Amino acid sequence: MSIVANKPEPLLYEMSNPGTVGYSLPECDVPMTQLPSDLLRSELNLPEVGEVDVVRHFTRLSQKNYCVDLGIYPLGSCTMKYNPKVNEEAIRLAGFSQVHPMQPAETAQGAMQLMYELQEYLGAISGLPGVTLQPAAGAQGELTGVLVIRAYHLARGDTARSEILIPDSAHGTNPATSAMAGYQVVQVKSDARGNMDSEDLRAKVSNKTAGIMFTNPNTLGLFEEHVRAVNQILHDAGGLVYGDGANLNAIVGVARPGDLGFDVIHSNLHKTFSVPHGGGGPGSGPVMVRPDLAQFLPSPVVAQEGETYVFKNPAHSIGRIKSFWGNFLAIVRAYVYIRSFGKEHLQEIAQDSVLNANYLLALIRDVYDPQVPERVCKHEFVLNGTRFKKEYGVNTLDVAKRIIDYGYYPPTIYFPLIVPECLMIEPTETQSKASLDEFAAALRQIAEEARANPQLLHDAPHDTPVTRLDDVKAAREPVLRYKHL
Ligand SMILES: Cc1ncc(COP(=O)(O)O)c(C=O)c1O
Repeated sequence: MSIVANKPEPLLYEMSNPGTVGYSLPECDVPMTQLPSDLLRSELNLPEVGEVDVVRHFTRLSQKNYCVDLGIYPLGSCTMKYNPKVNEEAIRLAGFSQVHPMQPAETAQGAMQLMYELQEYLGAISGLPGVTLQPAAGAQGELTGVLVIRAYHLARGDTARSEILIPDSAHGTNPATSAMAGYQVVQVKSDARGNMDSEDLRAKVSNKTAGIMFTNPNTLGLFEEHVRAVNQILHDAGGLVYGDGANLNAIVGVARPGDLGFDVIHSNLHKTFSVPHGGGGPGSGPVMVRPDLAQFLPSPVVAQEGETYVFKNPAHSIGRIKSFWGNFLAIVRAYVYIRSFGKEHLQEIAQDSVLNANYLLALIRDVYDPQVPERVCKHEFVLNGTRFKKEYGVNTLDVAKRIIDYGYYPPTIYFPLIVPECLMIEPTETQSKASLDEFAAALRQIAEEARANPQLLHDAPHDTPVTRLDDVKAAREPVLRYKHL
């Protein structure tokens, strides 16, 4: 990003100056050998530049990117909240950053204590006390949870259950992980209020049902109004209830899934508990289960024996789901986040995220159309762009691209699949009132532009290094080199 308007920005390859090196090594103190010539590819034509130029090149590239440290990142269903810097300080402590997963447990007691305590916290937060920290993401947590459900039925000799019920509003990972675990997926319809349609649910539950998997609040940002009744229907039929905890941010510290009748749930630490994600780092999706299911959890879990922390293998474990200890530094960050709120203040995460979403919706609902206007949203809301398409010829992609011109990352679009021209906005609790006001003003301005000058939206974004891309062409004919040779 040049501070002089329109000054061309040098590209690394074009800065190449033969003979320039970006490093210098000390004198070699071992005998030199010749590298096999087939390992040295002369046709690569790598740029020869100094260290300063490399740093400037990558700094320039990073400035073209958008991140949670720059502004609101309203990507619905992703909970792109601010990642506190104290988390990063904690992970740099040598006892965490230098610990090796194969070192003897007695030399890693501090790290194991942290894992044990996080297991305890997540058990208390969810109301489901059996905990594994192993899964590397929400989707892997789902797979783990479904395998636990499967192990439970098989251990009871109940081998005929072959189906998992999943509402039509679900995230794509829910049917994918259920199918990976060997189950048939049976879809349950949503009703006009955004709940699961109870008649359809009753019609689809049977003695073939192993369980149900659903998100609460669901992907419409709405609390499932009949959650206890749904869970009771499943239990009466001998099935178990899996909670996709991706939306835990809306209820953390306020309601416990275990109290609502869930048997198994995962939590995306990289959402609710402020671990960076997207380009920012690996995720973590611990799974929490009711006490009698703990025997099936992946091995190992951390247990306390007197003053000592030890790794234990649950009696009928489904086995390993991830190497070593899971994504340990994600676990440390989540621990720090929970401790920095403390038990007394944890519910403020949920309260403020719900307040922010409702405040933002109130600022724009006269110009955009909420999918279920009669209901209060939880931590996010879903808009239906059908009217914009019909009246102005503008679709949701156009709106999202225009949002980029206002300096924001666009919200999630076209998900959940059941909402036509869907725009899904999740501000999170870490936005100030001022930043919500500014974002709402931009959205209102864009709605006015859609009415008065739809072409402006069709051509957006206007101010980015590349403008509207042909997504289909990019997928079918990707250009993966800087220049054609
Ligand atoms: C509702 C829902 N479920 C599951 C997932 C999967 O989580 P992960 O991306 O951590 O695998 C997501 C991710 O966005 C989600 O929004």
